[in-house]
Amino acid sequence: MRILITGGAGFIGSNFIRHLLRADPEVEVLNLDALTYAGNLENLADLGEEPRHRFVKGDISNPEIVEACFRDPLDAIVNLAAESHVDRSILDSSDFLKTNVRGTQVLLEAARKFKVPRFVQVSSDEVYGSLGETGKFTEETPLAPNSPYSASKAAADLFVRCYHQTYGLDAVITRCSNNYGGHQFPEKLIPLMILNALDERELPVYGDGLYIRDWIHVSDHCHALDLVLRQGRAGEVYNIGADQELNNLEVVHRILDTLGKPASLIQHVQDRPGHDRRYAISSRKLREELAWQPRIAFEQGLEATVQWYRENRDWVGRVRSGAYRDYYDRLYLQRDRTLAGL
Ligand code: NAD
Ligand code: TYD
Repeated sequence: MRILITGGAGFIGSNFIRHLLRADPEVEVLNLDALTYAGNLENLADLGEEPRHRFVKGDISNPEIVEACFRDPLDAIVNLAAESHVDRSILDSSDFLKTNVRGTQVLLEAARKFKVPRFVQVSSDEVYGSLGETGKFTEETPLAPNSPYSASKAAADLFVRCYHQTYGLDAVITRCSNNYGGHQFPEKLIPLMILNALDERELPVYGDGLYIRDWIHVSDHCHALDLVLRQGRAGEVYNIGADQELNNLEVVHRILDTLGKPASLIQHVQDRPGHDRRYAISSRKLREELAWQPRIAFEQGLEATVQWYRENRDWVGRVRSGAYRDYYDRLYLQRDRTLAGL
């Protein structure tokens, strides 16, 4: 099976590539990633010279680069490339529109043109908006995005849907809850709080800290994506979540307890505008249809994640400074140009 994975140098993408290559010796991966601030080939360094993984540095919103990836037949595309951070989208939504919406449309168009048998769009539960105190998102919950990030993901989902309806493209959408685990860029809640706590710097909790997220370990997400890729029904949406709702203060306290650091590090800071109060997702359809189950309890996953960040301070330093970028730019420039026929 030859799969184009976009965003494979990011947090979930790199974990997913590792998962696929380990799980199936027949899988070959073409990894298309623009290596933005969030993409880092060090995330895949442990693969070494793995011949079943080939990297192309390029932007999914560039049709020329994308079409060059289709020169050899593909069995599937899994689109993980995205601008992914809500706070950045509030500061400036332009890249979110370009990558998340236009980029997805460029990929869909190429998939249609080259008749790719399967397209998996990796989306987010944030497209459903915010919940009150009770209930969970199901696949039928209306889309009601509140941030520029979630609006761009919802728009992309609608394009995927319409390519299935209009052109008969075999496409599936997954909507997952908040992921955590190793290799996550330290701007998201869990890695940021772990690193600040390790350095005994203040932990900036937005507003009252009672915002609720439904946490899933990245490896459980990857396992679900693998099942949907192979067995999901075309035209369907599958929610992915592990039923682990916690408010942000609970998460931060658990991190502090794991590290033996004082609660006095917590600082309540100005709230995020348009902050979604609660996410909770039902993954009943995925569990019943594809026999998926999460394997990692939050306590266990958080401990492993804390340990990962403790042991990978060099990685943190490098991804924060962007120091790796020039090196990989030089390394891959020639190979990309050859592939793109430029
Ligand atoms: P990430 O920010 O860690 O990685 C995104 C990757 O996409 C990076 O490697 C980046 O270089 C690449 N990229 C960005 N713009 C690109 C472009 N124009 N062309 C090619 N590559 C580009 O994000 P993540 O957390 O790994 O999320 C991956 C996907 O999963 C996203 O689509 C996101 O919306 C979705 N998702 C994330 C979560 C979560 O909790 N992190 C939850 C549900 C869904
Ligand atoms: P985040 O990791 O950015 O994911 P998302 O906004 O996509 O759910 O944030 C998770 C929650 O943590 C969210 O309610 C915002 C909150 N948060 C803070 O309180 N402080 C922070 O520094 C960050 C990054 C997030």
